[in-house]
Amino acid sequence: MRSLIDILDFSVEDLNELLATANDIIANPSKYAEKCKGKKLATLFFEPSTRTRLSFEAAMLELGGSVLGFSEANSSSAAKGESVADTAKTISCYADIIAMRHPKEGAPLVAAQNASIPVINAGDGGHNHPTQTLTDLLTIYREKGGFNNLTIGFCGDLKFGRTVHSLITALSRYEGINVVLISPEELKLPSYIKKDVLQKKNIPYKQTTDLESVMPELDILYMTRVQRERFFNEEDYLRLKDSYILEPKKLKNAKKDLSVMHPLPRVNEISVAVDSDPRACYFKQVLNGKYVRMALILKLLEEADK
Ligand code: NCD
Repeated sequence: MRSLIDILDFSVEDLNELLATANDIIANPSKYAEKCKGKKLATLFFEPSTRTRLSFEAAMLELGGSVLGFSEANSSSAAKGESVADTAKTISCYADIIAMRHPKEGAPLVAAQNASIPVINAGDGGHNHPTQTLTDLLTIYREKGGFNNLTIGFCGDLKFGRTVHSLITALSRYEGINVVLISPEELKLPSYIKKDVLQKKNIPYKQTTDLESVMPELDILYMTRVQRERFFNEEDYLRLKDSYILEPKKLKNAKKDLSVMHPLPRVNEISVAVDSDPRACYFKQVLNGKYVRMALILKLLEEADK
């Protein structure tokens, strides 16, 4: 049974196929309106979410399927002490596919090992977020026409930001990628990702605390929120939360065709005044997220039916 737990579960060919399907859905939505008729998606969200959960639900509804699930741990039997493994076995009796978000790293993998239906990791702790990466890849593809020879700056909370971890991993398979890591000292990219991904694949990267000094080099600026919920103490969060605030004046030296991305939600890190800059792509990302999740649900259900 094929699941999506880590972005590397999908080959570059799989990703190309998914992006092609997503682009076809955008061009011909009515063709897909009944593709999942009679199928059910269960969204098991043990952590807060707006975009990820609702885009999964909207995706399934637009495919003609239906949805069930819960949006907080307290309303499920997890609150009574049920294990992720038992929850996964249970939901396999009710649904055809699961999207799971969980604060514990590895929980969706445990679910996939115990479910008899495909499981999609919709974010596990500070670890991975492969479907945000699909969203980001579709956005980069549509903005830049491909993935090779891009310089990408990741800015903000690179330590706990799971979307950053998954996107760097995904991009490491393309040619001519340059990575610029912009963060406070305390929120640097974990060394296991530097070692297992960047160094292993010989991807040139540099680390800096200064966003403006690297701005002119960037083709993509991927801003992130400081992940309050992963901090051990509030004081550190308060000290670091406004480390980077992107304002129009900071974009003066940026390339004309820079793409500013953000997985959202934003807190303070991009000023609302940037939204009207044609380089702001974060609300396009939101829309792309629904289409690429439609493509993903289709692919996993088709493979499960084989
Ligand atoms: C991200 C997440 O949940 O990791 N949000 C999302 O899914 N679009 C980013 C974040 O919460 O900061």
